[in-house]
Amino acid sequence: MCGIIGITGRDDAVDGIVAGLQRLEYRGYDSAGLVAAGANQLRVVKRAGKLDNLIGALKGSGLSARAGIGHTRWATHGEPNDRNSHPHTDPTGRVAVVHNGILENYQQLRRQLPDQRFASDTDTEVAAHLVARELDRMDDPDLFEAVRRVVAGLEGAYSLCFTATDEPDTIVVAKNEAPLIVAHADGVGYCASDVAALIAHTRDVAALIDGQLAKITPEGVEVTDVDGNASEPHAYTVQWDVEAAEKQGYEHFMLKEIHEQPTAVRETLRDRITDDGGQQGGGRLHLDELAIDERDLARIDKVFILACGTSLHAGMVGKLAIEHWAGIPVDVEVASEFRYRDPIVDAHTLVIAISQSGETSDTIAAASHARDQRAPVIGLCNVVGSTLAREADGVLYTHAGPEVGVAATKTFVTQIIGCLLLGLYLAQVRGRLYPSECQDILERLQQIPGAIDEILAQDGDIAELAKRYAETDYTMFIGRHAGLPIAYEGALKLKEISYLHAEAFPAGEMKHGPIALIEEGSLVVALAPEGHVFSKMVSNIQEVRARGADVIAIGSAGTTSDLKDHADHVLTLPEAPHELATPVLATIPLQLFAYHVATIRGEDVDKPRNLAKTVTVE
Ligand code: F6R
Repeated sequence: MCGIIGITGRDDAVDGIVAGLQRLEYRGYDSAGLVAAGANQLRVVKRAGKLDNLIGALKGSGLSARAGIGHTRWATHGEPNDRNSHPHTDPTGRVAVVHNGILENYQQLRRQLPDQRFASDTDTEVAAHLVARELDRMDDPDLFEAVRRVVAGLEGAYSLCFTATDEPDTIVVAKNEAPLIVAHADGVGYCASDVAALIAHTRDVAALIDGQLAKITPEGVEVTDVDGNASEPHAYTVQWDVEAAEKQGYEHFMLKEIHEQPTAVRETLRDRITDDGGQQGGGRLHLDELAIDERDLARIDKVFILACGTSLHAGMVGKLAIEHWAGIPVDVEVASEFRYRDPIVDAHTLVIAISQSGETSDTIAAASHARDQRAPVIGLCNVVGSTLAREADGVLYTHAGPEVGVAATKTFVTQIIGCLLLGLYLAQVRGRLYPSECQDILERLQQIPGAIDEILAQDGDIAELAKRYAETDYTMFIGRHAGLPIAYEGALKLKEISYLHAEAFPAGEMKHGPIALIEEGSLVVALAPEGHVFSKMVSNIQEVRARGADVIAIGSAGTTSDLKDHADHVLTLPEAPHELATPVLATIPLQLFAYHVATIRGEDVDKPRNLAKTVTVE
């Protein structure tokens, strides 16, 4: 997630900005930059890659200023390169801006400036152009007023931070659906994406509320609403140290990322419908980065989904979605296996390679093996500009933001969302669903973030269960249909962070072997939400219970009372907006269960032994 820092009123503002950016590094980024503000000139230095590249560029430059703004960028629009790094300026260099979020209407806004050349591919740059235009129009230029007018026309999520040559000591910020903190201490004004960047200077901060703007000067901070009326931000005193501040008060990144899932899902679903001009009675689902001709997609007769680990489990949901909605046969395969056999692949085979990092060498190699045989490849990635995203013919990004914990959580649920979108899109392209049907399903999917919040509220009950079973050496996860990928994922989460033995089976396979493992006191986690296989799951639960297993059942609102007679413990999911969306909900309690078991056992959940976040070797 992008990081912002602004400082005004210190002779060494540039050093302060660099130190602030270092504190924001944990958020993940692919480029960094800053602007030193001055009355004659805004001096911008920015570099793709690590902060060290920026620091290297600053070395010996003698750049100093009493005010400036800095940014670490996590790319959402445009490749991560020097040109797309922030800050961005208008063509005259009068206004500079940094931004965290997505300006959804940036293309319409760019069209308001037909004569202007844009220096980057970003959604952000247009904001600097528009503020400069407002300043040009004013007899008595006022940066705050210019920003206020521009912000009124913005759509999307943003925390924006501006500086201008007109008022080099002034920083103006605006917030909507992306975090922004302001502060003032000892004659210095500050703003930042989160308290980690400010904690070295002050613990007394104020979080802006959506729709607020602030004018920050060495004299103080003035906050208003979008109409310019004085408005109160949420002021508080930070109790955390720097390390805790990076985790925003959560004990671990994994827990923070579990709690970020409602936002991550919202971002991945955001802005997927375009107006079809009334042609087919509604909007069309569009996946804009998917640069594969719809006519080619309509001719596909087979799909391979290739991935590793958790991403593979998301792919298993993808299979269900594509077969159900688009009616195309799908194979899901471990990427490291696919590349060493002779898969039957041709130009009519679509390959979907799923990788949050986009750098997993097995997945990249498998995708290129398929491309060699002329199969079009779609990358489903979280990291913009990653190797897979660059090499694939088309890419669909999950917008989960960077994931620091090694165990994938928020990227997993957004991969499932990505798979559902692909299933719907292929159905639309092949004429299997009317746009209005697609739109209806998409609208229902918008209920998912709220449903995840409801599950997160059950954390206390899940922690109690974890306490009870933290010493259980072996846990078996069982599921069917949409529950099966989550059984696999539940087992993977538990084993990778708690080092306890856990494995998953299709519930129907139990009687063909695995049930021999069940004895008095075994633990079975059964995925039994509402759906067409529910009664089959109840039979499987009865089978293991009769042989002495303790059963934790994951049920849903409509099935809880039936399950209570058969399982020792029932965790209840809210009603899912679609049966194929159940996996997104069902995975949340299992993430929390694994997390609590691991912390009770004193394991390092963010950095489990023997594992790396990105596996770039075979
Ligand atoms: C498990 C986990 C791994 C990754 C796997 C693939 O929590 O994170 O199993 O899912 O290494 O990584 P990506 O998705 O980056 O290709």
